[in-house]
Amino acid sequence: MTGIFDSGVGGLSVYREIRKLLPGEDYIYFSDNAHCPYGEKPVEYVVDRAFRITEMLVSRGADIIVVACNTATAAAISSLRQAFSDPEDPAVRQRVLALSDGRRDHVKFIGMEPAVKPAVSLTRSGVVGVLATAGTLKAEKYRHTRDLAHDRITVVEHVGQGFVELVERGELSGPDAEKVVRASVQPLLDKGADTIVLGCTHYPFLADTIRKVAGPDVTIIDPAPAVARHVVEVMEEDGVLSAGQVAELSSDHKGHSVFLSSGPDDVLKRMLSML
Ligand code: DGL
Repeated sequence: MTGIFDSGVGGLSVYREIRKLLPGEDYIYFSDNAHCPYGEKPVEYVVDRAFRITEMLVSRGADIIVVACNTATAAAISSLRQAFSDPEDPAVRQRVLALSDGRRDHVKFIGMEPAVKPAVSLTRSGVVGVLATAGTLKAEKYRHTRDLAHDRITVVEHVGQGFVELVERGELSGPDAEKVVRASVQPLLDKGADTIVLGCTHYPFLADTIRKVAGPDVTIIDPAPAVARHVVEVMEEDGVLSAGQVAELSSDHKGHSVFLSSGPDDVLKRMLSML
């Protein structure tokens, strides 16, 4: 079973891509909306949430965890890997065997990263805009990727101010959403960006509004399809699934998905009916 979590409904943009490739897999999705947004919270807070959610997902049967949140990936994925994914470490083995009821001795993690690399080859103006949360933009992991790209192009950044709140309210379009989106997208356009990377999993749900504001000449990149392909690779490489099983899960449409949330579930339900 694949466990997926985010601070809210944003990770559904990743879930829908993984499910397209593996419709026969079982999924458990956790929206931590009682603690949303993560983007402005201290790193320790996000790490603590990531650990609690991972333990819950593993105890409910997940053996691979997709951290479908850029902010949580930047804050916590290294510590999560250290604590849950090294079968050579007896303490890790024990922890995971106990949590998973003896099913597995390690857990695989897949995280999100702003898709700066593909943007480098797509930009014609040489200016790439990155929209992400404050937490992601100040994280070491992102800054490293950005600095590498800086040798070849200019990267300009902006926090998608109020974007997560819009999506968590299920408000994806309309004049008010457009106004909020414009306030963060226009500064990137003013600096010459012709390619915009969506560095937060909530933002793809605003893609139509972002496109409307940015115009038809701007390319918008959502990393979710690439992450979904990576999930399939990791499953095969790590032996979570054999190639034959992956093929079966790709063609069988009978997988089950369970959705849980730490807060009210009305928007989660609404977004799911939309997907
Ligand atoms: N969807 C998340 C991300 O990718 C978190 C947004 C938030 O909670 O601030 O960064």
